Amino acid sequence: PKERGWSFPYVYLFEHFWCPSPLIRERNIFQKHFQAKQSDVLVTSFPKSGTTWLKALTFAIVNHKNFSKENHPLLTSNPHQLVPPLYTFRGNIHDQILQLSYMPEPRLFGTHIPFPSLPRSILESHCRIIYICRNPFDTFISSWAFFNKIKVEHLPTLTKEEAFEMFCNGVIEFGPWWSHILGYWNESVARPNTVLFLKYEDLKEDVNFQVKRVAEFLGCPFTEEEESNGVIESIAKLCSFEEMKDMEVNKSGTINFEIKRFENKLFFRKAETGDWVNHFSPSMVEKLSKIIEEKFSGSGLSFKMHY
Ligand code: A3P
Repeated sequence: PKERGWSFPYVYLFEHFWCPSPLIRERNIFQKHFQAKQSDVLVTSFPKSGTTWLKALTFAIVNHKNFSKENHPLLTSNPHQLVPPLYTFRGNIHDQILQLSYMPEPRLFGTHIPFPSLPRSILESHCRIIYICRNPFDTFISSWAFFNKIKVEHLPTLTKEEAFEMFCNGVIEFGPWWSHILGYWNESVARPNTVLFLKYEDLKEDVNFQVKRVAEFLGCPFTEEEESNGVIESIAKLCSFEEMKDMEVNKSGTINFEIKRFENKLFFRKAETGDWVNHFSPSMVEKLSKIIEEKFSGSGLSFKMHY
């Protein structure tokens, strides 16, 4: 089956998920040729759930001994350059695999690929996987705003109503979002030492606590001395929305990213929990709440919709 995508003319049902065709091809090549290492760290998410933030934090945590505030790579590179996507969606995927093999260890990558479709080598390597999840109300609004702004050639923009209908049917790149979230959630419950499941809203509430959690999960906890020197706070500040959106690289830089080349500033919009209340009608609230209730009941996972 195929459907219209949000950023691709069509998405195809592949292993129960809606995927653009270049991704299916790349994923099959990865399955054969990509060699994961146990020291790899994979940052995973459903799109528009806080990937950019988690990439920045993970990079800063892993490298906290290597850089000072003055020479930090996050000041001059977008987080998606420092933590590159596994898949390019275009270009030569064999070159991409080669480039990834040259990265210094621990290698940090990002991907939106659903858990069951991760390359076998990643699962077998037992490398660490961090997932960030965001409440579906804000994820929907963030997605709709983003995909309308990037303006993919020859693809008419979606009205909010059209996009919402597709979202509720699970038709969106890497959707259905409920299966995406549940795939990583169930794995984090089964293998907590391999998969860490984070919520965007928890990071908003207490980022310092979550930074500590990530560092411990990755096996690089902060020393008491580092903690008392404010290392955690400075990582949180460097990666904060307020700081990142005003960095020159994120204000004026562009990135060749998955779908096309676009401006880095598009990754930074409002970064609020509960912005959806400005966009949802009562019937939309009812419909999405019902889907969440249906899909997540009994999973042990709940979402925080408001501040
Ligand atoms: P909004 O569209 O609600 O503002 P992704 O990185 O997965 O594409 O998700 C993008 C969302 O994360 C956007 O949400 C964006 O504003 C927000 N975001 C980007 N950088 C952030 C940061 N450093 N801290 C918090 N939120 C951030």
